[in-house]
Amino acid sequence: MRAAVMPHAGDAEVLEVAEVAVPLRINSEVLVHVAAAGVNPIDAKTRSGRGVSAAIEGYPYVLGYDFAGVVVETPYAAHPLSVGDEVFGVMSVPRGQGSYAEYVSVPSLQVTKAPKALTLVEAAGVPLAALTAWGMVVDVAKAHEGQRMLVHAGAGGVGHFAVQFAAYFGAHVIATGSPRNLSFLRGLGAAEVIDHTSTRFDEVLSGIDVVIDLIGNVHDETGTRSLTVLRPGGLLVNAPTGSWDTLAADAAAAGVRSSTYKFIPDASTLAVIARLLDSGDVRVHVEEVFPLDRAADAHRAIESGHTRGKVVLQVGALPL
Ligand SMILES: NC(=O)c1ccc[n+]([C@@H]2O[C@H](COP(=O)([O-])OP(=O)(O)OC[C@H]3O[C@@H](n4cnc5c(N)ncnc54)[C@H](OP(=O)(O)O)[C@@H]3O)[C@@H](O)[C@H]2O)c1
Repeated sequence: MRAAVMPHAGDAEVLEVAEVAVPLRINSEVLVHVAAAGVNPIDAKTRSGRGVSAAIEGYPYVLGYDFAGVVVETPYAAHPLSVGDEVFGVMSVPRGQGSYAEYVSVPSLQVTKAPKALTLVEAAGVPLAALTAWGMVVDVAKAHEGQRMLVHAGAGGVGHFAVQFAAYFGAHVIATGSPRNLSFLRGLGAAEVIDHTSTRFDEVLSGIDVVIDLIGNVHDETGTRSLTVLRPGGLLVNAPTGSWDTLAADAAAAGVRSSTYKFIPDASTLAVIARLLDSGDVRVHVEEVFPLDRAADAHRAIESGHTRGKVVLQVGALPL
């Protein structure tokens, strides 16, 4: 099968299309013919030798968590998924190979039926970002009516789902973004928007219940400044790993609660998200679609740090 492989760690140009073996389906895995694969910042970090690269067991390696495609083999006849079903899900990179490939063999608990209302390209942009947003906003922060929630990077892959989930559950959402994204953020349900290029959010906000921190201290001490806008006992949830090593101590000193977060590749939660996408209560925004042989350009786009919504790789010819 064709796959975009990294022969070794390096810049985006190391990514190249090569022929690799179709993964062997074992145990309760489902074999999926991949139509499209979502691209996430962790892919680029890992490709560059950071991220989860330390756990890659051998090269050439196939990156990619998100996939959408069609089931070609199930573990047994009565399995809830059938051959021909359109599905989406998330791989456990770097345990096994990823989804920048024509086939994935995915554990049953990490794949579910794709939303009918979405194309497979759109569906491929959903899993990792939406599961992360759900975990942070719903599972950890318990989004609810009346809660004042600040979402940093609300226009990005995780952020655009976080804004929508928080608004769906009734929270008063304040989102940060650059000028080109402010009306986009309002359209997602943000009650207030802050242009991070012209306004320092900590000079205009206070009494916030929850900060969904998708920046950390990577840019302009965003994480540390966020602690000052929380009410006493408020909660900051941080996703970018390694972005702020003193988070727990800093939060405790400021009299607020904090947690890092790691997405869980849980298909049952993804099925709930699929229902919200089918009902139209939530939408995915795919900013750009690249063919597999332009995986390097897709990585350059994600490394810009300013894509809106999702970047997706089209892996096979559609429809399958
Ligand atoms: N722990 C986990 O399980 C987990 C899971 C997913 C993601 N993550 C991490 O979380 C972070 C976000 O992921 P993502 O997929 O959402 O990234 P992304 O899609 O690349 O985010 C891009 C967005 O960030 C916004 N942005 C950039 N700088 C900003 C700033 N200073 N203030 C406000 N917004 C800013 C940009 O908006 P503008 O162009 O308008 O500035 C852009 O829309 C990454 O570090 C990722 O690795 C962690």
